[in-house]
Amino acid sequence: MRTFEPRLLLCPDAASAAVEAADRVAAALREERVIGLATGATMAPLYRRLRHQLAGHPLPPRGVIGIALDEYVGLRPEHPESFRAYLDGAFVRPLGLTGEQIVVPDGMAGDRLAAARRHEAAITAAGGIELQLLGIGANGHIGFNEPGSPLDSCTRDVSLTAQTRAAQIASFGSADAVPTRAITAGIGTILGARRLLMLVTGEAKAAALSAALAGPVNPSCPASALRLHPEVTVICDPAATSQLGTYLDRKRAPETC
Ligand code: GLP
Repeated sequence: MRTFEPRLLLCPDAASAAVEAADRVAAALREERVIGLATGATMAPLYRRLRHQLAGHPLPPRGVIGIALDEYVGLRPEHPESFRAYLDGAFVRPLGLTGEQIVVPDGMAGDRLAAARRHEAAITAAGGIELQLLGIGANGHIGFNEPGSPLDSCTRDVSLTAQTRAAQIASFGSADAVPTRAITAGIGTILGARRLLMLVTGEAKAAALSAALAGPVNPSCPASALRLHPEVTVICDPAATSQLGTYLDRKRAPETC
């Protein structure tokens, strides 16, 4: 198994890490067409900055296509916690895009296998993803690929772990309201993008980032699969790097922003 070392960019704080990541996304949107989109609290300042960056700078006439990583099963698109609603508010409307320029897995589909296949087909039809934006779960998940997910998995219906569901209780208002399943792009799907950009901020992600970068590459930490891809940039703040230990010392010249 050939592995690569991701480029690691250390920023002074979470806000500057989000700005740095947003600048790269803005550049990609101007030059390329298909971008893979992540959701979650970490991404919120990135999308805010992106909106600001692109204000008054129209995107290429051909337009962009945003492809979401995942969606909860059983939430209507208009549910405020659906990833469709998140991306409509953070990406589609602020950038003046149309409904045809965003693809989100259909979490309401009766046939979830067919919905997952449609999502893969949409990625293929768009010509593949140029830049895939990623966050990381506290247990190392990417998209909703929980620990144990095969490194070559494709888009599919998955069950969410108790830890992942617990992290969402505040947003949903109660434990019972948090969905138990999601449709997520697989780890293999994610690795199919030409470039990967991961944004990691905060102490709560420190153990996951350490496992991803310095632990073994295997399904126990889905984010460790990033090391199977030659074009990966990880942008983080000091809190997120607090458990990297000697990994940082081993890096010859960690880049800073
Ligand atoms: C979510 C998403 C991921 C995201 C991760 C971390 O539930 N499925 O794409 O990266 O969990 O989210 P947050 O940034 O809110 O901690």
